[in-house]
Amino acid sequence: AKITYIEHDGTEHVIDVKPGLSVMEGAVKNNIPGIDADCGGACACATCHVYVDEAFLAKTGTRSAMEESMLDFAEGVEENSRLSCQIKVTDDLDGLVVRMPESQH
Ligand code: FES
Repeated sequence: AKITYIEHDGTEHVIDVKPGLSVMEGAVKNNIPGIDADCGGACACATCHVYVDEAFLAKTGTRSAMEESMLDFAEGVEENSRLSCQIKVTDDLDGLVVRMPESQH
């Protein structure tokens, strides 16, 4: 699925991410700055925080309880904040746009 990652400064990266990977893994494998993912996807660091484009909120689903509590440690959390390691890429997410927060710049 094609995913557009937008850095805090507006730099866009359009990457084709294989279904089954997480949105975080797609970024890390392609060396996209702005997603640090210190814990490697265990939902334990909150450094993979992204803002999901409104149009995709329904498709990316809702936060788990664990994700919710990790987001308490992230800065600038908004309604559309998610931890990108908790979003699994599917063909359905083709065209997804995520923005990285300033704190991970
Ligand atoms: Fe650590 Fe997502 S990579 S919470």
